[in-house]
Amino acid sequence: MRIIKTVREYLNGRDGINKGSTGFVPTMGALHRGHQSLIESSTSDCDATVVSIYVNPTQFNSANDLGNYPDTLDQDINLLESLGVDFLFLPSYDDIYPDRYRYTIEESEFSRQLCGSHREGHFTGVMTVVMKLLNIVRPTAAYFGEKDFQQFQLIREMVEAFFMDVKIVPCPTVRETDGLALSSRNLNLDAGSRKKAPLIHELMANDVTDGQISEQLGEAGFDVDYVETHSGRRYVAATIGNDNKQVRLIDNVAVGG
Ligand code: PAJ
Repeated sequence: MRIIKTVREYLNGRDGINKGSTGFVPTMGALHRGHQSLIESSTSDCDATVVSIYVNPTQFNSANDLGNYPDTLDQDINLLESLGVDFLFLPSYDDIYPDRYRYTIEESEFSRQLCGSHREGHFTGVMTVVMKLLNIVRPTAAYFGEKDFQQFQLIREMVEAFFMDVKIVPCPTVRETDGLALSSRNLNLDAGSRKKAPLIHELMANDVTDGQISEQLGEAGFDVDYVETHSGRRYVAATIGNDNKQVRLIDNVAVGG
């Protein structure tokens, strides 16, 4: 696997990298089986697979969340090697934001709902960095997890809106055996919170109202951001933890047929 650390190096080498079909999996590292499933889809569909690891500060709206974001780079590199990834792109802030984030991608409706209404500017940060990464890598296909369904949908519609020549491929949510959706942030759960965390998924597939789920999560000690159903999909975001470490968990499932 070749590790590419600058945009310049990527652009200079791109003709050699993008031979045939190129699959791209953008990540923020601390890789787990969820990321792995996206990478495996790419390696089975495409001639070459590029993974990026970049903890994008513009999508974090809390310095604490950014500071606590797990970093397991050495392990990540070993995993990517074992999965047969061809290129790892590891850019720096200065490389990605030569404009110091003066130029941004905005969406004015769905990005303001759900996570967008609780994390100001989050999806602007996500869409802007994904636009930049897609312009650098220029893949045939890019893979996104349904775990972050709102993100996937906003990116798919961004690509349509800007006539970008890339296929956006959704991949199903990978879960622990107890139902908890895999997430890099799960590494920060204390033992008590880890035990409670699967309740989110357990409750959300039930045939009860959003309000009832919110109430039950509240009673179990979660601080609930939202439980909402839109277009046949129920979305939940809730925080759990102790005073030292709070972890915000999100999940979604298709409901009602
Ligand atoms: P990150 O949280 O590292 O996730 C990278 C990709 O892995 C996303 O497409 C996410 O939906 C997918 N993923 C995470 N957990 C998953 C799971 N349990 N099952 C299936 N897929 C899962 O999402 C981001 O990074 C960033 O916002 C990014 C798109 C890289 C832009 O900075």
